[in-house]
Amino acid sequence: MNDKQAVALEAASYVKNEMIVGLGTGSTANYFIEALAERQKTENLRVTTVASSNISMIKAQSVGLTVLSLAQLSQIDLYVDGADEITPDNTLLKGRGYDLVMEKLLAKAAKQFIVVADKSKLVDRIGTHYPIPIEVMPFAWQAAKRSIEAIGGVGDLRPNAAKDGLCITSHGSLVLDMRFDASLDAHALNALLNNVPGVVEHGIFTHLADTILIADQGKIETRV
Ligand code: 5RP
Repeated sequence: MNDKQAVALEAASYVKNEMIVGLGTGSTANYFIEALAERQKTENLRVTTVASSNISMIKAQSVGLTVLSLAQLSQIDLYVDGADEITPDNTLLKGRGYDLVMEKLLAKAAKQFIVVADKSKLVDRIGTHYPIPIEVMPFAWQAAKRSIEAIGGVGDLRPNAAKDGLCITSHGSLVLDMRFDASLDAHALNALLNNVPGVVEHGIFTHLADTILIADQGKIETRV
């Protein structure tokens, strides 16, 4: 079992009968979806899920989980998702899977947001390994990009995986991948990006993670 599987299995143990569970997107979140489906099958656990992307919805349905839309739910008990970077103060960078708006909605709506990651995700500052993903409305991407450049951002629209077109989110947005000067603190950048018209959502998650499970060679550290 690799570290992503180990941490996903640990997160699945937090799920209780009748819970409404938010499903993240990515390889670690996929292991969680599989572990949850396994508990449903072997322990007769009754759960309802809500997915953060079309990809995780399809994955969840393929393993027999019931998936509802956010619009049908008035509360979410638990949201489990991965992250691309995690700082010592539990700020997250998310969004290589690009469905940021749903990810942040679920993180905010859930009573508990558990982040699952292996040790490679720990960084001293947001932006160490990746640019900041910024989901923008298609008709406003140039205007949004100009505003982001005015606060020091450098980057461009994210291409799709085949590199023959653009990455389009489950809700039809485009994604800008933008780098910023290392001296710009993530909390300040979060506030600046929240103020840019045309930005649907961005990948900096501050004060949202309740529990962070980090696996390192099979050993799991729990940060709360
Ligand atoms: C998707 C995300 C993912 O959780 C993040 O990219 C981590 O992915 P993985 O578990 O595959 O390493 O934020 O938008």
